[in-house]
Amino acid sequence: MEERIPRHVSIIMDGNGRWAKARGKERVQGHIEGVESVRACVEAAAEEGVEFLSLYAFSEENWNRPAEEVSALMDLMMLSIRREVGSFVKNGIRCIVLGNRSRLSEKARSAIEGMERETAGGGRMTLVVFLSYSGKWDILQAAQKAAAAHPEGLDSLTQEDFSSYLVTAGIPDPDLLIRTSGEQRISNYLLWQCAYTEFLFTDVLWPDFRKEEFRSALREYAKRDRRFGKVK
Ligand code: FPP
Repeated sequence: MEERIPRHVSIIMDGNGRWAKARGKERVQGHIEGVESVRACVEAAAEEGVEFLSLYAFSEENWNRPAEEVSALMDLMMLSIRREVGSFVKNGIRCIVLGNRSRLSEKARSAIEGMERETAGGGRMTLVVFLSYSGKWDILQAAQKAAAAHPEGLDSLTQEDFSSYLVTAGIPDPDLLIRTSGEQRISNYLLWQCAYTEFLFTDVLWPDFRKEEFRSALREYAKRDRRFGKVK
């Protein structure tokens, strides 16, 4: 059988806190270990020929976590960005960050812009990090942009036109969405873009989700029968 590799794999990385708690550690230790899973999945995705890997790193709702956890997570993400940028460039990985940047600190914004500039030439795989993102926020900002661009009215706007105002413009919709840690919900993630996405829920906590788990998810995807609402 021909192996079907999804073009775009997206992951809701969940369970860092529970992983830490089960080991009597601080939550931040779960996030630190989670970064190792990010690295493993980026490597595995590139090795398997996935074109787009996207990760839900921080939701708009996550701003409501205790201030110490928010700042620890931001520090960790900025540190990881600085640390990984060389390896992204070496391995042809373009990395972009999508979300509501107005809520990020000036320091975080400039670290992100630097990384996007340095990795812009990467042609092997695109890594999309969703940061300060929510699906409803994305749809609303797209509606506002569309209205501003079409003062004559939106009557002739197509779905394709509308997609071009989402922050994911130019990125194919996810073929496969993985959520770790046993939770089975979309949590305000890519609401418009997941219309026909295959969902895969696993009990594995994010810090334990490494290359073998990623490859196993791709095998499961290859078995799915995608009909897009049609009869085959
Ligand atoms: C969910 O676990 C995880 C997060 C909210 C943060 C994920 C972020 C990282 C692993 C860092 C990513 C780094 C880069 C460079 C992209 P949780 O805290 O909700 O766990 P719980 O549900 O068990 O409490």
